[in-house]
Amino acid sequence: MRLKGKTAVVTGGAQGLGQAMAERFADEGATVIAVDMQDLKYEKGNVIGKVLDVTDAEACKTFFEETVEKHGRIDILINNAGITRDAMTRKMSDEQWDLVMNVNLKGVFNLTRHIGPHMEQEGGGSIVNISSVVGEYGNIGQANYAATKAGVIGLAKTWAKEFARKGVPVRVNAIAPGYIMTDILKTVPEDLLKQFAAMTMLKRLGEPGEVADAALYLASDESSYVTGHVLSVNGGMRL
Ligand SMILES: NC(=O)c1ccc[n+]([C@@H]2O[C@H](COP(=O)([O-])OP(=O)(O)OC[C@H]3O[C@@H](n4cnc5c(N)ncnc54)[C@H](O)[C@@H]3O)[C@@H](O)[C@H]2O)c1
Repeated sequence: MRLKGKTAVVTGGAQGLGQAMAERFADEGATVIAVDMQDLKYEKGNVIGKVLDVTDAEACKTFFEETVEKHGRIDILINNAGITRDAMTRKMSDEQWDLVMNVNLKGVFNLTRHIGPHMEQEGGGSIVNISSVVGEYGNIGQANYAATKAGVIGLAKTWAKEFARKGVPVRVNAIAPGYIMTDILKTVPEDLLKQFAAMTMLKRLGEPGEVADAALYLASDESSYVTGHVLSVNGGMRL
């Protein structure tokens, strides 16, 4: 029970990696608020679904205030909600660019701007931004996505400094997953997925639970001296 008595907010928690993290945290004793545009696709004790669009700054502020009122404090924030709208740069529309920026980058800012200072005030906490192997190395056809996933690494490193500057143990890290079998890969052709698997040292794609294990480590006190770090969970992949 490594998260006993903790309150965790997991964005994009209705399915995929968010679901795996929410379920793992609940198994470890946390109360989890799984924030998403859609209803939860599963049922799990101690995981509470909350429909919220992370691009809506006003709604994020209200959600933060209501959550603190109801649960007392927020100990863990996983900024996981994310989307892709892939296109080669010369063909990328303003809509594709703006939507990915809004969800993957502004959405992370919208909640952390409240929850980070709250953790600082309450004496500590752990924030994890979900980046990507694409944010570390770049990828053809994903200029918008790569920019946001590199961006959340910059945010994690900045917030690791900013929220701990008075010596309060608010830790902020990033996880950069490789290719993990979830709905986000639905649009990627099968033969390309095989190529990605072959590019890893372990010669396979990842499972959501393997990212959840990394998130649990960073969320728990086991990583009490780890901050401003990017943890790659990619089977040894370089793009
Ligand atoms: N699966 C992978 O291979 C992989 C690899 C690297 C990084 N990631 C990142 O992991 C995160 C989770 O991805 P996933 O694979 O579980 O994808 P997914 O599509 O299965 O889940 C993403 C979730 O985010 C939610 N969401 C989208 N826009 C939202 C918004 N505006 N407000 C609130 N919720 C919103 C969706 O409804 C969905 O439930 C994303 O940030 C993604 O970029 C995934």
